[in-house]
Amino acid sequence: MKRAIIYLFSGTGNTAKIASLYKDTFEKNEVDTTVFNITSDMTAVPDPREYDYVGFAYPIHAFNAPKIILDLARALPETDGKKYFVIKSSGEPLRINNISSNKLRAILKKKGYNQFAEYHYVMPYNMIFRHTDEMATRMWDTAKSLAPIEAAEAICETPHMLKRVAFGSLLAWVMRIEHSAMRVNGKCFKVDKNKCVNCGACEKNCPVGNIKIVDGKFAFGGECLMCARCSFACPTDAFDIALLNGWRVNGRYDMSYEGEPQPAKHGWYCKKAYARYFENAGKKIAANAGEICNNER
Ligand SMILES: Cc1cc2nc3c(=O)[nH]c(=O)nc-3n(C[C@H](O)[C@H](O)[C@H](O)COP(=O)(O)O)c2cc1C
Repeated sequence: MKRAIIYLFSGTGNTAKIASLYKDTFEKNEVDTTVFNITSDMTAVPDPREYDYVGFAYPIHAFNAPKIILDLARALPETDGKKYFVIKSSGEPLRINNISSNKLRAILKKKGYNQFAEYHYVMPYNMIFRHTDEMATRMWDTAKSLAPIEAAEAICETPHMLKRVAFGSLLAWVMRIEHSAMRVNGKCFKVDKNKCVNCGACEKNCPVGNIKIVDGKFAFGGECLMCARCSFACPTDAFDIALLNGWRVNGRYDMSYEGEPQPAKHGWYCKKAYARYFENAGKKIAANAGEICNNER
């Protein structure tokens, strides 16, 4: 039986949901699939050379891959042309998001890996503003139909690279200031003691152990990835994420909304780009005959 590994980082669950759709399709096609949750402990990372298929899945942060994905790539062994694909999720369908795998690709290329595909899913924002549940449901419904098709393409190793953006690597490099800025920003988080119910959800959820609660007092280290999991998980909205607090999106979305149409407060934002994303995804879904290639590698 063939084997696949998907190295996953997901702050608030969107990318994890997509990765699980890939796992389902891979397993339906008799590819035993491990979704490996990346943490800051790089000592027990599975060796990609032991797998037939290798994928990396992450949310786009400031038009880049989160720092932990780049750290993982740096920790991987060298290979002789190992192929891999990338799955990414973001709140916006803008083409500039295509630059987000540039650095990952550069790191892995030096180690002998070859990227053959990348798949981008628009999912509800966990930062900037809250999409309506109706929109979140539309995004998730689209992903549920599209991901199995694209996972099948990955099994077939069909090339699927997204369009390059002029000066993309330079732009991505500039935006990677986010990585160090967020480590400083993370130290400035605050918790509203009037709202906090001491459930410890923030501490338990932090993927890099950056939050410590000792005798009811909060301490924030310098490893924050700004993945937003802490504030998103807070049941009482007590978390203040410093510089980005005005953009905080708190609490889960209902991605199976069936109620009345919901007027979007930010309905004008990237309106055309969202429409294009749904249209292109719809065309690809409609054109798919539901067949999965007979993988002869
Ligand atoms: C710090 C931060 C930066 C983000 N930057 C972008 C961005 O540049 N472009 C975008 O479309 N979405 C951006 N987002 C939104 C996320 O990419 C999006 O909500 C994603 O689906 C979250 O996935 P996750 O739940 O797996 O973490 C950002 C989110 C965070 C927390």
